[in-house]
Amino acid sequence: MYKNKNILLIITGGIAAYKMPETVRRLREQNIGVRCILTKAAKEFVTPLALSAVSGEKVYEDLFDLDDESEMGHIQLSRSSDLVVVAPATADIMAKAACGLANDLASTTLLATDKPVMMAPAMNVRMWEHAATQTNVQTLKSRGVEMIGPDEGDMACGEFGFGRMAEPLDIVAAVKKRLGTEGLLSGKRAIVTSGPTHEPIDPVRYIANRSSGKQGHAIAASLAKLGCEVTLVSGPTQLTAPDGVHLVQIESARDMLNACQKNLPVDIAVCAAAVADWRVDVEADQKLKKDGSGQMPDLKLAENPDILASLSQATKNRPALVVGFAAETEKVIEHATAKRARKQCDWIIANDVSPSTGTFGGNENTVHFIAKNQCEDWPRLSKSEVADRLAHKIADYLKEVSS
Ligand code: CTP
Repeated sequence: MYKNKNILLIITGGIAAYKMPETVRRLREQNIGVRCILTKAAKEFVTPLALSAVSGEKVYEDLFDLDDESEMGHIQLSRSSDLVVVAPATADIMAKAACGLANDLASTTLLATDKPVMMAPAMNVRMWEHAATQTNVQTLKSRGVEMIGPDEGDMACGEFGFGRMAEPLDIVAAVKKRLGTEGLLSGKRAIVTSGPTHEPIDPVRYIANRSSGKQGHAIAASLAKLGCEVTLVSGPTQLTAPDGVHLVQIESARDMLNACQKNLPVDIAVCAAAVADWRVDVEADQKLKKDGSGQMPDLKLAENPDILASLSQATKNRPALVVGFAAETEKVIEHATAKRARKQCDWIIANDVSPSTGTFGGNENTVHFIAKNQCEDWPRLSKSEVADRLAHKIADYLKEVSS
């Protein structure tokens, strides 16, 4: 099944690097071709000779090796595989990748690649939990990098906690899963809306909400991972665009609707944005001033267009599958079920956004999947896991309706 599949394995300098010859051997048992890049620090833990013996391939080490550059330059090396896997991934390589540094073969390859990237982090528990590492992990995930582990357990340094590299067989299973699902949505097009909208009151003030865009961006990344061509129409967020996703940045609900309509036709629309329901009817040209009289400005509100409803009810170019979200603070399933019927989308993902749940702005979500006559409660998952699960469900659905 994996006969023509090749991965590029970047081994960085953690103690877990000693497990990589075993991992390569297991990957080769599956007929997956493996080419290795070894950093200078990784060579302290594992030898190029051992890796070339198990992979049957030359091991690449130095960015400025003229032989390698004439044989296979770093650009070609980064693109001639189906998947790039970094294992063990140290805090250092993750920080470099998150910042886009490129000062050795491993980091340069990660910056130059156009292929999906997986990382198996391995480090001391304090390093893993450090805010800098966690921010880098979030940045990488938001760009579509898939993390394998880390596991919890005893560490080489004598401490206990999260930071142990996933076991070789778990890495092989994750790689196989990724190679097997690659392309499930190839040839399909999707629009994903994400983030809040900003509705201007005057040149300096706006109406907005607390949406971070994390869930919508994660969905765009998950669909792209399955080979879908994704346009992400996003309101203002702190997030970067996931790899392989076309980002259209907008401010207001009306801009969002225009951008979505411009990108039709698509097979899939997922409306995850927290669109502001109202805007100020007439935006002031100049900054509104307090005139000292104590009189409040008269802000007349107008209702914004409903993007989800307009895509769901379109008579021309209606996407084959329209998925909405329902942000509720009470009677979650009841309100979401009514919302799905009212807006006429196919599926709705209901979540409780009460402040106590930490959903708005957080990294986790507890959702209910609602379709006509169907309701599934999903367990509490990270937003990336919710996104992956939804993307696979979309792929299964489109396969079913086309067969
Ligand atoms: N939505 C939209 N355009 C709007 C409002 C909402 O596309 N103007 C979409 C959201 O992206 C989401 C779904 O509609 O997919 C439901 O959004 P939500 O905020 O939960 O509900 P509202 O429609 O705003 O209704 P209410 O505020 O009454 O709960």
